[in-house]
Amino acid sequence: MDRIRINGGRPLVGTIPISGAKNATLPLMIASLLTDETVTLDNVPRLADVGLLQRILNNHGVDVTVSGKRPGEDENSGQTLRISAKHIVDTTAPYHLVSKMRASFWVIGPLVARMGEARVSMPGGCAIGTRPIDFHLDALRALGAAIDIDQGYVIARAPKGLKGAHIKFPKVSVGATHTALMAAALAQGDTLIENAAREPEIGDLAALLVKMGAAVEGAGSGTIRVKGAARLGAARHAVLPDRIEIGTYAMAVAMAGGDVMLEGARADLLDAPLAVLSRAGVQVAVTNEGIRIRRDGAGVAPVEVTTAPFPGFPTDLQAQLMALMTRAKGTSKITETIFENRFMHVQELARLGARIHLDGETATVEGVDRLKGAPVMATDLRASVSLVIAGLAAEGETMVHRVYHLDRGFERLEQKLVRCGAAIERIAG
Ligand code: EPU
Repeated sequence: MDRIRINGGRPLVGTIPISGAKNATLPLMIASLLTDETVTLDNVPRLADVGLLQRILNNHGVDVTVSGKRPGEDENSGQTLRISAKHIVDTTAPYHLVSKMRASFWVIGPLVARMGEARVSMPGGCAIGTRPIDFHLDALRALGAAIDIDQGYVIARAPKGLKGAHIKFPKVSVGATHTALMAAALAQGDTLIENAAREPEIGDLAALLVKMGAAVEGAGSGTIRVKGAARLGAARHAVLPDRIEIGTYAMAVAMAGGDVMLEGARADLLDAPLAVLSRAGVQVAVTNEGIRIRRDGAGVAPVEVTTAPFPGFPTDLQAQLMALMTRAKGTSKITETIFENRFMHVQELARLGARIHLDGETATVEGVDRLKGAPVMATDLRASVSLVIAGLAAEGETMVHRVYHLDRGFERLEQKLVRCGAAIERIAG
């Protein structure tokens, strides 16, 4: 298994190009199941999760072709995928594929909407919490699907098609909102989704569905109205920039010090994290090119932050913020409200000398003057990258194990950091 070696203590100076968002790409690819015509996606990041979803879609009979580089493009340009679900040959998503990536469960919505049936393995637990699927199933039931659970599989049936409905989620869920939106786009009649997730990735999916021929209003707010179409057609869409990648590099610069332009970053995607960085004393400047992050020798001030659904502070940046606060000039409090077990990075940060005390869903982080490099390992994507951030500021060598987590969600992480002067390298094997 690959490892990443970091020699900390160097400031980051330069430009980091921001990739397309993983968490938008996955539902956009899945939405291609809704039509027998070709969906073209631009600005798709080169990530392990995208490759895995390609395999899952192939298994349903979907053709995915990746365009070669066009003249003038470099390795920072996203890829273009042409996805054709002309013939769906299998409506089963098997355990050995779904268990590798939770979002692949979301194929259930488009499959039952278009084919009248879907048999999808339950995604099961995950390192960051129990992550149930009850809201997805309730939404599909409301739209008229009959749901059975059999031998670890969810079987959804709607032989006469789905019907528009009123869906009110008891709690905000990104995935369940995606499921409801995709299913409603091919349902007969109107659907009203209340307490919908407001994440920008929902807006990206809605934009694609509109291009495909569904009428969707209110995406980005808590109330979404969908007028289903009898059939959906071809569309082309560019994936929005990855707000978690933007926030992660912003925190890396805040941690290591320096001056970096996050090229292609959009501030409206992460107002809350940028406000937290400003409160911590980091300089944030929004320009036409992207977002410029600067921190001189002054160090960062402690903050109190609670994760929340968008537009709140994202749980997907909680670990990175905690890494940053390990060296703040004072004590920070970070509360995680979305996932019950998303503190796996705490014990690893402690190996580098961080002082963090956990009490239920709140971590109290006492800033220390210095961190010292050590071997570390993480069990999920965002936790892993928090260790990279800490390693950039730690004295000496930090070795991050289980790098495959990083490859799921960060495109060419080492190259992007090396360009800015970091001493970071991948060791194969
Ligand atoms: N929940 C339920 N029942 C459900 C669905 C969700 O109780 O049927 C609960 C969850 O247990 C959790 C909360 O609702 O407590 C919110 O979960 P949500 O459904 O919003 O999460 P998700 O859709 O599974 C997506 C992202 C995650 C991100 C969360 C929260 C993708 C592919 N995944 O997951 O991203 O943390 O939203 O913003 O979009 C990551 O990229 O590293 C990642 C984990």
